[in-house]
Amino acid sequence: MEPRALDHPVRIGSVTLPGRLVAAPMAGVSDLPFRELARDHGAAMVCAEMVSAEALVRRSGKTHHLMRYEEGERPISMQLFGARPAAMAEAARILCDHGVDVVDINMGCPVRKIVKSGAGAALMREPAQAAAVVEAVVGASDRPVTVKMRAGWDAASMNAVAVARACEAAGAAAVCLHARTRGDGFGPTRRYALLGEVKAALSIPVIGNGGIDTPEIAVQLLTDYGCDAVMVGRAALGNPWIFAAIRAALRGDPPPVVTPEARRQALLRHLHRAVEVHGEHLAVRRMRKHLAWYLHGLRDAHRAKEAIQRLDSAADVVAAIEAYFDRLAAGREASVETAA
Ligand SMILES: Cc1cc2nc3c(=O)[nH]c(=O)nc-3n(C[C@H](O)[C@H](O)[C@H](O)COP(=O)(O)O)c2cc1C
Repeated sequence: MEPRALDHPVRIGSVTLPGRLVAAPMAGVSDLPFRELARDHGAAMVCAEMVSAEALVRRSGKTHHLMRYEEGERPISMQLFGARPAAMAEAARILCDHGVDVVDINMGCPVRKIVKSGAGAALMREPAQAAAVVEAVVGASDRPVTVKMRAGWDAASMNAVAVARACEAAGAAAVCLHARTRGDGFGPTRRYALLGEVKAALSIPVIGNGGIDTPEIAVQLLTDYGCDAVMVGRAALGNPWIFAAIRAALRGDPPPVVTPEARRQALLRHLHRAVEVHGEHLAVRRMRKHLAWYLHGLRDAHRAKEAIQRLDSAADVVAAIEAYFDRLAAGREASVETAA
């Protein structure tokens, strides 16, 4: 196949994604600033953090904060978790009124509190309930509905093909398969063969997810396993360039070079937008993990990361970032940090 043919739009129901890369929903991470960076570096669709259908129906203020998005992010997907079809349908109606492009249903979250309520990955154990949830959400939505699922509950019950079929029959416009069971957690297991099986069983698009941390793996999922699109999660933490690198690979181009200056600019932009979106207090706290991710692997970043974790004002964080990158550029960071 011509490499160029790999980079093309994908249709999910009535929505056209301009490319085949999706930025994964990640609670506590995939807020507006994170998504903007992902989008600008090549993600064709971004997904907001999961929202509790029950909380949304109760109109909880915190939930509405999670739902903030901007026009430039389109197409944007917002994800609901819940187990009650009626609440999920009502919440989907709210998301549609809110103007989202795609409504996504969480069938993969492994967190104990969520699965105990019958939501997230617990739905993989209850295919009839899963189908009822999809049917209710599809019935209430005027946007395409997608499902993000796992391979199954555990290695002994890998039923993704059956659940995906049930979701398609219930009206889902696409399925995203995180190629791990709930039991696999976020570990090294990658059950990619299952992606091919799900793809062969469905006529709606299949989005492959799980462990995509190089352009080569993304290309493999699109070519060898026939995925229509791929979704990247943790490899994008502090690294929006993963999307540009994958897109380059799809076009047959070499990956873009990420200079320390590009890293500095992206980090400062992320921080600046976080302050605008969340306010300084929350932004500085939310940014601590992002800072560590952006600096990961850079020369002598350890001390800088530690020092930044203790700062409380955005101005101090900016100054510390600038100072670190200045030292990095001057090749002096090691001695300065030893002295600190
Ligand atoms: C911090 C974090 C938060 C996550 N939150 C969600 C979420 O809200 N909804 C969801 O469907 N998946 C969530 N996930 C799972 C990811 O979307 C993705 O399926 C998983 O990380 C596997 O992809 P990866 O190997 O590329 O990271 C989360 C993962 C992480 C690491």
